[in-house]
Amino acid sequence: MPARIIVTRKLPEPVEARLREHFTVALNHDDTPFGPGRLASGFRAADGMLCAVSDQITASLLAAPDRRLAILANFGVGVNNIDLEAARAAGVVVTNTPGVLTDATADLAMALILAATRRMTESEALLRQGGWDGFRPTAMLGMGLQGKRLGIIGMGRIGQATARRAAAGFGMEIVYFNRSPVGPFDFPAEPRPSIEAVMAEADIVSLHIPGGGENRGRIGAEALAAMKPTAYLVNTARGDLIDEPALIAALREGRIAGAGLDVFAEEPKVPAGLIALPNVTLLPHIGSATLETRTAMGMLAVDNLIAYFEGTPLPSQVL
Ligand code: DGY
Repeated sequence: MPARIIVTRKLPEPVEARLREHFTVALNHDDTPFGPGRLASGFRAADGMLCAVSDQITASLLAAPDRRLAILANFGVGVNNIDLEAARAAGVVVTNTPGVLTDATADLAMALILAATRRMTESEALLRQGGWDGFRPTAMLGMGLQGKRLGIIGMGRIGQATARRAAAGFGMEIVYFNRSPVGPFDFPAEPRPSIEAVMAEADIVSLHIPGGGENRGRIGAEALAAMKPTAYLVNTARGDLIDEPALIAALREGRIAGAGLDVFAEEPKVPAGLIALPNVTLLPHIGSATLETRTAMGMLAVDNLIAYFEGTPLPSQVL
């Protein structure tokens, strides 16, 4: 009998078709987010779940005595939505989707770097609100990227892809912090001994470390205070890396120049203090949101499920 799989979000059609071929599958046709109750009944009824960053997979779900579920195939490379310690204790297998979203996410990091430094959000708002009175040589002056220094926090796949774009495409210098030694790279880049050291010399800081655990709130008042008042902060990784009230204060008081954010600490909540600021570009977690990438992510999640139930090696197992 085919394994029973519950899918918590609407997925690209080819992914859903492939799931139907291999499993007895419950799809989420109207894409309503699962609350804790629906997740709990999924854990009781299914052998596996294809879940996403919008699902909080808590210790109480994982420790439930009547759990049937044996595998969580997460749609995303980041797995901070899953209590990994509890999953380990419960013996639940966890997989993710690394690699396939590297380019899309690095593209979006560059888009946010450009949006922040070229004041796109502020400029577009001016135009849409009818406030544009024609070309003016001194209007909406931003910061050019050529010869500026990009600070990468976390030189993994996405950090490297962002650095490569910035160095090769925009003539930027790269400095970075990575917890363990990494490299060599196919672009020039210099390591620094700490996050603060990178933040102090960068003109733009781009975050590429995992969220959750000890990284929660890592970019707080102290790290922000190290930045130059002319510098920008970009986050396409996880919202909880940043202490949002500290960032709002730094932006409001002109202690940094601007920010570009695709992720937030308590999605889908976006702090009103950020929404009120003109020098911030805010996007709704679309780093990997191309049809090609979201299809590839779904296919990799399905590859993991198929491998698990066929008893073959899993392509991307976290636990
Ligand atoms: C990821 O892959 O981690 C994306 O942010 C979607 O969750």
